[in-house]
Formats: sequence, structure tokens, C-alpha cells
Amino acid sequence: MRTDPHQGFQVDPADLPSEAVIFGCTPAMCEVRSKIARVLDTDFPVLLQGDRGTGKDLVARYLHARSSRREGPFVKLSCAAVPQRLLEAELLGSEETNGNDECQSKAGLIEFAEGGTLFLDDVAEMGSALQRKLLHLLRDGRYFRVGSREERQANVRIVCASSVKLAAAVKRGTFRRDLFNQIDVMSFRLSALRERKEDIPQLWDSFAAKLAKKFGKAAPRLTPSVLHVLEQWSWPGNLCELENCIARVMILGDETAIGEGFRRQGVIASTVDGHSERNGRAKTVSRQTVAEAMILQALQANHWNQRKATEELKRSYRSLLYRLRKAGILHRPRSRRAFPRSD
Ligand SMILES: Nc1ncnc2c1ncn2[C@@H]1O[C@H](COP(=O)(O)OP(=O)(O)O)[C@@H](O)[C@H]1O
Ligand SMILES: [Mg+2]
Repeated sequence: MRTDPHQGFQVDPADLPSEAVIFGCTPAMCEVRSKIARVLDTDFPVLLQGDRGTGKDLVARYLHARSSRREGPFVKLSCAAVPQRLLEAELLGSEETNGNDECQSKAGLIEFAEGGTLFLDDVAEMGSALQRKLLHLLRDGRYFRVGSREERQANVRIVCASSVKLAAAVKRGTFRRDLFNQIDVMSFRLSALRERKEDIPQLWDSFAAKLAKKFGKAAPRLTPSVLHVLEQWSWPGNLCELENCIARVMILGDETAIGEGFRRQGVIASTVDGHSERNGRAKTVSRQTVAEAMILQALQANHWNQRKATEELKRSYRSLLYRLRKAGILHRPRSRRAFPRSD
């Protein structure tokens, strides 16, 4: 699988979990599964909504891999990750004339997605000017590169995802109603993990097998007592959090760390989000706790690529330490660094 976002890549169905694992057995997700089956071979735009970590990326890749466009590229643009001023050119391409009257043209991701699927993640982050252009694209299949008067034809299937409720964004006035109506026709809500706890055992097996292969370790087995603990938890981080939890058991080799891990994560989440109550509980967070949570987060964000995760950690660890110290939660260490200096 090629992963350069500017090239797009073909999704190998073998890289995806089975349908039974992706959708599980709850009535709500079974309905999503059967409705998605009906749109696979159409070119209708699709909207995937659900909290972070509920599987929107995965379902978008599944949709592409099972659609009639499967031989074409799958291209993702995360509207939250690209600065607003660059987003338009990133998506549509640009044509600029420099001082010597030379025209410099750059293809947008829409061109790289030609014949395939364009996945617009965090679509609510798109500014109003680009929303208008996306509406035009969805209605007529046509668009202009930024700075160009030549109208172009696109042959892409558009899948949008949002973890904020788009209907609420329409009410707030930050998302165009006509665009919402256009993409809401085939809209799917992916359940939070707390609404599909019945699926935990098979999700465990799927994640455990994936991580075991990645790290060359034995897949941890789910025991009844651990399942009981997992069923009590509310899973604010959804499937990502479950994956991290299994990774922790595998790396530390200690399933009793699970309950402790939940308590720590509660503290970490509140401190990192900046909502920390400056009370004794938050202050008990240790450097080891922070490091452990960050390592897991970085590994997950980098698809368990240890080299890339290490690079990211070098950059982000120091900025997090700075924020935690500023909030009075951590104190400056006297010795030893958990991560090497990057400078
Ligand atoms: N139903 C599922 N079965 C197995 N793994 C899943 C499932 N849904 C999501 N995942 C995995 O969980 C993690 C988070 O999913 P992701 O698609 O990135 O969520 P989102 O885009 O909604 O934040 C990824 O590693 C993904 O492969
Ligand atoms: Mg996502």
C-alpha cells in the first residue's frame, strides 16, 4: 500500500478487518452495514458521522475497497490538518503566474483521486468559500483550480466524515445548509464503542492479532475478568482507546494494568485538553504515566511505525511537558530525560 497522500493509494482489502469485525453485531451497526452495501456501486456522496475513533477512516477505506472504483486511488484530505489558506489549493490545485509571466500549475488532490474516491475528513472544518466550491463540485462534477478560469471535470466519488454533528454546525451557521443537504442523503452514523460493547470480544481478537503481528509478540487473550472490566468502561476514545489498551497489555505483559490504565487515562485526557482541575488527583500524574500514554498515542497515530512514532515523540514530548509544568501539574525534573533531546 503506497501511503504518499499526494499519490493516493489503492486499498488492499486484505489490510482491512473482516466485515463482521468492522460492523459487529448490534442492530444499529448492522443497519449501517446493509445500507452501505446498497451504495457501494453508486457514485452518491457519502457522509460518515461518529465520534473520534469510531472507525470513520476505516469505513471510508472499506467503502472504496468494495466499490466499483476499487481499482482507482483512494485519496484522503484531512480538512483539520491543512491550514485553511492552503486547503483550497490542496484540494482543487492552483495556477499562479510569477514575476516572469511564467505559469506555475499544481494539481490538487482531486486530480490524484481521478477514477477513485476522495475522502474529505473533518469536513466541518472547511471554510465557507471552499464549501461553496465543494457544493458546485458535488452538483456538477466540475471545479476550477485556484487562480484558473478553465473549468475542469472531475471523476471522483466523494466520501465526507465528521466527528462534530453537521446538523448542529448548520444551526450554528458554520456549515452551509445546501451543502449539508447534498451530502446528508447517504449519511451513516457510526456507533460509539460504549453503544456496542457486545462487539468487544471480537474487536479484541482483531486488534490483538494485528498488534501481535506488528510487534512480533504473542496476541494477548481476553479473559472473562478482563472482559468484565472492559464492559464497565465508557470508552471516550472509542476503538482507538481499545487498541491502545490492548497494546498496553501486550507491551507491559500485565492485564491487571488495565483498570489502572483507565484511571490514568482519565487524568491524562483532562490535563492534555487543558481542562485540568488543579486538584490533588490531577497532580498525582507522574512523568512515567505521561510518557506511557504518549508513546501509545504516537504509535497509534503513526500506524504502529516505531521509527515515525519516535520522531513525533521527540517533537511533541517537550511541548507537552512545558504545558503540564505551566499548569503546575509536573515539576521540572532534576535528572534523566525520558526522551533524547532533538537538538
Ligand atoms: N470496526 C472496526 N474493527 C476493527 N478495527 C477498527 C474498527 N473501527 C476502527 N478500527 C480501528 O480503530 C482505529 C480508529 O479508527 P479510525 O477509522 O481512525 O476512526 P475515526 O476516523 O472515526 O477517528 C484504527 O486503528 C482503525 O483501524
Ligand atoms: Mg479519522
